[in-house]
Amino acid sequence: MSLNEKPFRFKDEDYKKYTLTAELSEKEEALFQNEKISELKEKYAVYSDRLGHGASACVVTFGCQMNARDSEKLSGVLAAAGFKLTDDEEADVVVYNTCTVRDNANQRVLGRLGHLHSLKDKAPQKKIILCGCMVQEPSVIEKIKKTYSFVDLIFGTHNVYKFPELLCRMFDSDEMLVDVWRSTGNIVEELPVIRKYPFKSGVNIMFGCDKFCTYCIVPYVRGRERSRASKEILEEVRSLAYDGVSEIMLLGQNVDSYGKNIPGEISFAQLLKETEKIEGIERIRFMTSHPRDMSDEVIDVIASSDKISRHLHLPVQAGSDKVLKAMNRGYTRADYMALVKRIKDKVKDIALTTDLIVGFPSETADDVKETIDLVNEVSYDNAFTFIFSPRRGTPAADMEMKMSGEEIKENFDLLLKAVQENARKNALKLTGTRGKALVEERDPHDESMVTGRLSNNYLVHFPGNKDLIGKYVTVELTENRGFYFYGRMV
Ligand code: SAM
Ligand code: SF4
Ligand code: F3S
Repeated sequence: MSLNEKPFRFKDEDYKKYTLTAELSEKEEALFQNEKISELKEKYAVYSDRLGHGASACVVTFGCQMNARDSEKLSGVLAAAGFKLTDDEEADVVVYNTCTVRDNANQRVLGRLGHLHSLKDKAPQKKIILCGCMVQEPSVIEKIKKTYSFVDLIFGTHNVYKFPELLCRMFDSDEMLVDVWRSTGNIVEELPVIRKYPFKSGVNIMFGCDKFCTYCIVPYVRGRERSRASKEILEEVRSLAYDGVSEIMLLGQNVDSYGKNIPGEISFAQLLKETEKIEGIERIRFMTSHPRDMSDEVIDVIASSDKISRHLHLPVQAGSDKVLKAMNRGYTRADYMALVKRIKDKVKDIALTTDLIVGFPSETADDVKETIDLVNEVSYDNAFTFIFSPRRGTPAADMEMKMSGEEIKENFDLLLKAVQENARKNALKLTGTRGKALVEERDPHDESMVTGRLSNNYLVHFPGNKDLIGKYVTVELTENRGFYFYGRMV
């Protein structure tokens, strides 16, 4: 069996005891969950009465853009039911939308749960909800049931759309409720959403991942790759544009394989072209691209567009062919470098960023040298560097480690230094240039300044007032401060 055909680690039986709700068809679910929101409004009134004040809710997001988008849906449902949304975890209802990509993501959640427990001791009516990738693992569910029995509701990544129904059940129960599914074929997006920013939004174009990189838990906790119909995606973008959104980010673990599981569906390149045509959309981002699947057609679409951002996040993970093969990434260093060359040749002003892992089991210090060499050759504008974290059930978790923890740390530091030097060099080259920035917020450290994001994803702080928020302005970059700039409007 090839690595890409690896079955899920967990069988249906493993999830039977965690299944609480029944799966309906997509259409029925959309109707049913919206009905449940009406019921939830009544339960909200009763709960608020009991508390003696209008109940509040806080949604805390861990992990990636996919989770951030799910959190906007969770917030949308809570707000529609009447909850006052806040960032304060002293809120009456707290939702942790969790991540499990590396062990430290789990530890962060478990650590913070202790704090929530002490808050609940003082306010016993408080409700604590856990959802997202971490709780897709049966062993984690068991641990929470045993050690964190004060949690009121647990649900997974496949049934986020069941949130209204699950909230109703939670308010009717004194027991911890668990509803975690192994998988779903359903895509239900017709629920209320509260966007963090009124002028920009993520749009899911696909769910799950079929790549099975040997270190990665995402395919196990997010399920097999499923694309949304382009008609629905474009409808959502149109409605966002109508609502005043001008920047959208098309989201998926591997956007370049968009549409491949739907017969007759358009490609990602065509989806970009269609999105561009929508009136009101000024800037288009997407995340994440996979070097194995990125087509020349996509590069051509970026090159000929003045709406698609000049930023490409192209995770390479490692610079040595031996490690790339053991990771099951499906490309060689030469393939990756050839792709980078095609991109840079056609899109001269592109900013490239990447993800890198140090300490993959078969990796040696010489392999890390090859990664550092690749970082210098590509000269990334920025990179996320991670230390390999074994994830139970993934093939890499059973592989033998070549480097000691100390060696990994030393090599990690060397790699980070190379990343920072290249980033600084590139940022210095940009100093003195001009670009269009979308103003996102007031500068948190200085009321007289605002913060904008350039097409290449760099941030720029410049004098301006809050009326500029959500607008595009031309800014000259006057001074570089590492990963951001100071500038002035021109
Ligand atoms: N789908 C994207 C891709 O293929 O690059 C990103 C997915 S993952 C959410 C984000 C990053 O986490 C990966 O690019 C990888 O660098 C890192 N990552 C995933 N699993 C990891 C592990 N077990 N240990 C350390 N880093 C990991
Ligand atoms: Fe994980 Fe990305 Fe590989 Fe999918 S493509 S398995 S999400 S690293
Ligand atoms: Fe984490 Fe799940 Fe994203 S594991 S990185 S939140 S897909």
